[in-house]
Amino acid sequence: MDGPRVLLGVSGGIGAYKAAALARGLVTAGATVDVVLTRGAREFVGAATFEGITGRPVRGEVWEGVADATHVELARAADVLVVYPATAHTLARLANGLADDLLTTAALVHRGPLVLAPAMHTEMWEHPATTANVATLRDRGALVVGPATGPLMGVDAGPGRLAEPDEVLTAIAAITTGAGDLAGRRVLVTAGGTREPIDPVRYLGNRSSGRMGFALAAAARARGAEVVLITGPSALMTPPGVERVDVTTAREMDAAVTDRAGGQDVVLMAAAVADFRPDAAHATKLRRGDGPPTVTLVANPDVLAGVVARRGAAARPLVVGFAAETGDLEAGARRKLAEKGVDLLVANDVAAAGVGFDTEENAVLVLHRDGPVRAVPRAAKAAVATAILDEVVTALGDPGRVGTSG
Ligand code: PMT
Repeated sequence: MDGPRVLLGVSGGIGAYKAAALARGLVTAGATVDVVLTRGAREFVGAATFEGITGRPVRGEVWEGVADATHVELARAADVLVVYPATAHTLARLANGLADDLLTTAALVHRGPLVLAPAMHTEMWEHPATTANVATLRDRGALVVGPATGPLMGVDAGPGRLAEPDEVLTAIAAITTGAGDLAGRRVLVTAGGTREPIDPVRYLGNRSSGRMGFALAAAARARGAEVVLITGPSALMTPPGVERVDVTTAREMDAAVTDRAGGQDVVLMAAAVADFRPDAAHATKLRRGDGPPTVTLVANPDVLAGVVARRGAAARPLVVGFAAETGDLEAGARRKLAEKGVDLLVANDVAAAGVGFDTEENAVLVLHRDGPVRAVPRAAKAAVATAILDEVVTALGDPGRVGTSG
């Protein structure tokens, strides 16, 4: 890492002592590091340690250096904000936009990447409130590293242990230098559902939230890729460093993908594209008094098929299709893998509770066209995205697996 400005927020968990090692690692890698200690953190570690390591003053209170607007200055100068450890309380404050100390006020000002390393007891980590707060932060584009499973404070052990400094250093380096196993790759991701207008206020749509595609875009960016995200209507925040293209209908998505897919190394099609649309949208709102309308549907373009057809026998882009299945997952996935001529197919059971459409979590099968299958168990969509990209990286490294479509 050479030269990024890192704002390191340390909150009050027992793992706060490891933040000194993280600060040391960042400085050694060439970063300029500003440290903010919350009141809780100061119960565990002292400012002198961090001042000695970073060679810069450590900030604590929003009331210090008021004339300099410290929270604004620190946040604007930072290329990345890292919270290590991030306690349950700090995650809740960040998720809710509270601004009751220097770290949280700076976080509201900061517009760049946010890396969070949660650490807490297992019950706190698994509490629905924490789950919802982490989901909110992920939806806004935060990269959550860990927690690991292992010894916690006292005699306890389990999920909730702070990720090791090296793991966080790798994540920060990928964000700030573009290093990572997708560095130099161009990745296109589609996300969300399309909307097919019936009249000016009604449309045919589906339940896709965009989370799976946004998680893929964020994960690919964090691994160093140059990422373009083509999405149907979604309230999710664009992951930092990702170029976003908004579309509404399947035909708009087809045009945007056609425009961009040629120059990509990888195309990941997580969008739920409507297969059919009303043959014509009414120019004025349909009135109840006119009786139930008859809506005739016509076929939309198959965006994925277009990408595969235009690629022909070329080796790139590597094409990853998704399959939303409701029956036998593996059988449906194998059929779609053959039909669509893709290199990888990611299948999810969209009838199962808690996964698939409009959920925080997913569980998928990743099928390679030459046979291997990886089952990714139920986990946050960010973790599932990481597992899918691991398979993409494997396929990219094996040229025999691409360019033989048909
Ligand atoms: O957005 P979330 O709420 O996070 O939900 C995620 C998801 C369930 C939408 C996602 O994981 C998923 O399964 N996306 C694919 C949904 C889908 O349309 O599946 P399908 O089996 O109908 O289509 C197969 C493939 O063809 C998909 O890659 C799809 O993008 C593509 N397709 C489909 C129709 C069409 N007209 N053009 C296409 O390109």
